[in-house]
Amino acid sequence: MIVSTDAMFKHAYGKYAVGAYNINNAEQAMGLFQGCKDSNAPFIVQISKGARSYTDKRMLEAILRAANEIFPDVVFAVHLDHGDEPSCMDCIKSGFYTSVMIDASHAPFDQNVEITKRVVDAAHAKKIAVEAELGQLGGVEEDISVSQDKAHLTDPAQVEEFVKKTGCDSLACAIGTSHGAYKFTGSQGLHFEVIEEIARRLPKFPLVMHGSSSVPFDEVRRINYFGGKLREDAKGVDEKQLTIAGKKGVTKINIDTDGRLVWCRVHREQFELYPENFDLRPPGKVFMAEYARYIAHKNKVLGSAGQVDDLKKLLKV
Ligand code: G3H
Ligand code: 13P
Ligand code: ZN
Repeated sequence: MIVSTDAMFKHAYGKYAVGAYNINNAEQAMGLFQGCKDSNAPFIVQISKGARSYTDKRMLEAILRAANEIFPDVVFAVHLDHGDEPSCMDCIKSGFYTSVMIDASHAPFDQNVEITKRVVDAAHAKKIAVEAELGQLGGVEEDISVSQDKAHLTDPAQVEEFVKKTGCDSLACAIGTSHGAYKFTGSQGLHFEVIEEIARRLPKFPLVMHGSSSVPFDEVRRINYFGGKLREDAKGVDEKQLTIAGKKGVTKINIDTDGRLVWCRVHREQFELYPENFDLRPPGKVFMAEYARYIAHKNKVLGSAGQVDDLKKLLKV
């Protein structure tokens, strides 16, 4: 069942965070839906601009329509991840997305407000919610690469003005995470004091944490054992921090890289262990099962596992 993020965030606020997972193909969708069904967790399917153009934007919509029929009991929202103005407008027009993210965080404050406001006006006219971003994460997202020294944390002193002027429905805050597999080389460096101050200034307002993959070391080790060349000194976000974030006003936690690591590990292992195989389905089957297992585990960490029945009561469905 496709639902709005508004209802999800109201239910989650202060208690847990909803996992927002990126998909690019049918196997990722099947693993994701199975894992959320197994853990009875509401979730957000995220589609990036890159994912929309990987096969064809209509392909992912069709996959999700089919998944909605295959898994009638799951509760999910469909979200554009890191949109620009044209892609947001396209998704708003398509009528399929329940929310879009306008990421104008690279622009100066006033310009970020202007762009975000235009998207909010168009989206709200169609009852679609908008996530905006203030502050800038490091790492690579879409075609923009932000070095760690250019990344900057969200300034809590700006958030009330930003939300008031734009009318956005949720706010992605930079608190020290970054996109990709290499987030921290030393200590964690997550700035919960920034989230706490933002939550104090914006009571009950849904906050979003990007760059939240945990980059499990075991996955990295296994990938490298079977010929991969990932750096082993870098770490992702400690899972304990994700649980804490969910209790501090973060209602949406974005995870993409970890899913790519599961995909990479499974396929490297499968090619190495079964060199005679040239059929795409055996590794695909293993990937779907392993990804479902990862997702169910992550939903437990986020606190979203087991929340579907209670959320359905709130939704009166
Ligand atoms: O933050 C970006 C997400 O990980 C999506 O990545 O643009 O390569 O699909 P992508
Ligand atoms: P990761 O690279 O940590 O998975 O972050 C994903 C993300 O923020 C998608 O918007
Ligand atoms: Zn992101």
